[in-house]
Amino acid sequence: MKSSYLFFTAFMALASCALAFDPSPLQDFCVAINDTNNGVFVNGKLCKDPKLATANDFFFSVKEGNTSNSLGSKVTPVAVNEILGLNTLGISLARIDFAPRGLNPPHTHPRATEILIVLEGTLYVGFVTSNPQNRLITKVLNKGDVFVFPIGLIHFQLNAGYGNAVAIGGLSSQNPGVITIANAVFGSNPKISSDVLTKAFQVDNKIVDNLQKQFWYDNN
Ligand SMILES: *[C@@H]1O[C@H](CO)[C@@H](O)[C@H](O)[C@H]1NC(C)=O
Ligand SMILES: *[C@@H]1O[C@H](CO)[C@@H](O)[C@H](O)[C@H]1NC(C)=O
Repeated sequence: MKSSYLFFTAFMALASCALAFDPSPLQDFCVAINDTNNGVFVNGKLCKDPKLATANDFFFSVKEGNTSNSLGSKVTPVAVNEILGLNTLGISLARIDFAPRGLNPPHTHPRATEILIVLEGTLYVGFVTSNPQNRLITKVLNKGDVFVFPIGLIHFQLNAGYGNAVAIGGLSSQNPGVITIANAVFGSNPKISSDVLTKAFQVDNKIVDNLQKQFWYDNN
């Protein structure tokens, strides 16, 4: 009696452990609907019959990114949209090319931690911790150096060298997502009210107008 009670308790502890989390979203949101005929499949993609999978389902060839743009950087994602075989596997990567002084501007990945290795050049990188500390943690990276950007935190990479730079970021999601801070705040569609932005950034209307008039290049 006693041992079966213990077994039951242990089983329930394990069961509640296994059910302690909802699955993490793999897209920005998923509004529930009642009518399944009007829905789409989310949190992953439909799966191909495994017997029909081929090598090309797990393959992609990354080219050098074109850095002739206002940021001087180009991110080439290799995620589930590029390699369909990544579906459900929780991993992806990105190649980032930098012209001299090129910047991958402050951004966050809502669904992934990033581990970055520099293949060529010198990068000044950093991230900022959550409120209220907002501590800036930075490092200058050279060829072969690796740095981690924890999930959700705002981070950036600047080419601090004289030549081009190349880095590869590994990401802990098949669809990490990118929110570039300037683009989201000043380049949203439609625009965020200047009542919001003047107060939030402690600047006057003219500055907000000016920022909202800029073209916010998306290097992804
Ligand atoms: C969904 O369907 C249920 C059952 O028919 C109904 O009670 C509920 O109000 C519906 N919810 C919405 C948001 O339409
Ligand atoms: C790189 O992008 C620039 C600006 O869009 C374009 O003019 C140029 O032809 C591109 N270079 C290559 C090699 O594709």
